[in-house]
Amino acid sequence: MRWWLAPLLSAVAWSPIRGGLRPTPPPVGDSVDDCAACHPAQTEQWRRSRHGTASSNAMFRASWGRDPDGWCLGCHEPLVRGQEALIGAAAAPGHDRAATGVGEGVSCAVCHLEDGLILTSGEPTARAREAHAVRVVPDLGDAMCARCHEFPFQNHTPKGPFTLGDEPAQATFSEWKMSSAAARGERCASCHLPDGDHDFVGAHRGDLWKGLLKVSVSADGGDATVTLRGALPHAVPTGDPFRRLELRLCGDSRCRDVVGVAEFRKVYAPDATTWRLRSDTTLPAGDASSTRRTVAISAPPVAWELWLMYGERVLEPGLPAAEVGRRVDAGSF
Ligand code: HEC
Ligand code: HEC
Ligand code: HEC
Ligand code: HEC
Ligand code: HEC
Repeated sequence: MRWWLAPLLSAVAWSPIRGGLRPTPPPVGDSVDDCAACHPAQTEQWRRSRHGTASSNAMFRASWGRDPDGWCLGCHEPLVRGQEALIGAAAAPGHDRAATGVGEGVSCAVCHLEDGLILTSGEPTARAREAHAVRVVPDLGDAMCARCHEFPFQNHTPKGPFTLGDEPAQATFSEWKMSSAAARGERCASCHLPDGDHDFVGAHRGDLWKGLLKVSVSADGGDATVTLRGALPHAVPTGDPFRRLELRLCGDSRCRDVVGVAEFRKVYAPDATTWRLRSDTTLPAGDASSTRRTVAISAPPVAWELWLMYGERVLEPGLPAAEVGRRVDAGSF
């Protein structure tokens, strides 16, 4: 035996005795109700986040109503109990229907519970170890997110079996992984869980946008050229293939009269096997990236508004305004 192993071995020999003095914490259940009493702040924040409504918000319900594929639930309602409530008991034979907390979306347990252990990103406090058994997962705030924020389109297999294709549908994780933000150690959690805030600020709420994007417009006769510049950790928009930015050019200062619209988005079309990217005018990740579009205008613009539109255009007429999109910036000439 090499001499430096000795202190290590003695530490191992002692740990069961020390472990034995500590009462084993009770197991924690997988419903949000099992965390809420001890973690009221995170629970309240999470409830209003898009993770908290991932299977219940009007946008998802409208989209899933058109395409009610069980595949979707693997990310929007990952716990079997909730899936059962949405698509029937047949989907999950033998599961305990009496359990509560159905329809919780991307719930606490989805990110934090594995093998009966609570996953945490940093060294847990003594109080945390007393309350529940804990496992440290250093990449909980970045690589873990890739489970749902990085995946390809499905193949067109109407009669099954279900297979995935080779075209990325969402690539937020790899966009970030290759960015200088990642190299500087800015994890997904640094921006989307600031100080542990479980609102998951991003597209629907928060002002992560502030100072991030610069808009410039030059008008020339019947055309306007719009340029977006930014310093970004991933593409904007990223994520859902239907997301788009609209730069609305306005004929009046309150933007009642829209004289032209420049869209920044990805466009896909089907081929024989799956969906293919046909064009991409999103703002790419990078410290000094840009994207440009030229659009026809019906009158000289005096102001502009930048809107983030969340989903598929055909769903918009049936949705409440807050589910359609929001204005993220504005200016005048
Ligand atoms: C989408 C994944 C995800 C979901 C859902 C989620 N968390 Fe977290 N949570 C995290 C990450 C990531 C961290 C670590 C943040 C970091 O490393 O900066 C964290 C940190 C925490 C912490 C440590 C203290 C803090 O605030 O930083 C507690 C407590 C916690 N979460 C409780 C909860 C509870 C309770 C729920 C459900 C109501 C929940 N989380 C839902 C990802 C999630
Ligand atoms: C009986 C109370 C209790 C229950 C139930 C409970 N926790 Fe905790 N949890 C605590 C306490 C106490 C801490 C330590 C807080 C501190 O040190 O400030 C903690 C800490 C944590 C941490 C941070 C660990 C660290 O220190 O890095 C996470 C993450 C966490 N809990 C998640 C959960 C989740 C998810 C659930 C539900 C599945 C849950 N907890 C249920 C009491 C509880
Ligand atoms: C189990 C799947 C899953 C995991 C794991 C997951 N997410 Fe999500 N996330 C989703 C889904 C689904 C949505 C969209 C929900 C909706 O709006 O319908 C979403 C939406 C978001 C949004 C958009 C919020 C908005 O305002 O629209 C952000 C930001 C986000 N996630 C960050 C994270 C981060 C950071 C992590 C890792 C700590 C993470 N997610 C882990 C499934 C997941
Ligand atoms: C340096 C800060 C920063 C980091 C790091 C970061 N993001 Fe973002 N994220 C933003 C900003 C700013 C937005 C708002 C712009 C937008 O909606 O695209 C955003 C938006 C989003 C959205 C909403 C989608 C959309 O297109 O509107 C999702 C989902 C998301 N981020 C996930 C992630 C994930 C997952 C990671 C890690 C792999 C990550 N982000 C890393 C700043 C960050
Ligand atoms: C592998 C995981 C995964 C699968 C499978 C998946 N989604 Fe999502 N979905 C996400 C994530 C992550 C987001 C958030 C991205 C963003 O913010 O742009 C999202 C966003 C959405 C949004 C936009 C929600 C919003 O808040 O604006 C809709 C609608 C949606 N998904 C519908 C579906 C439908 C319908 C299916 C099945 C045909 C599906 N998704 C399959 C992960 C998934």
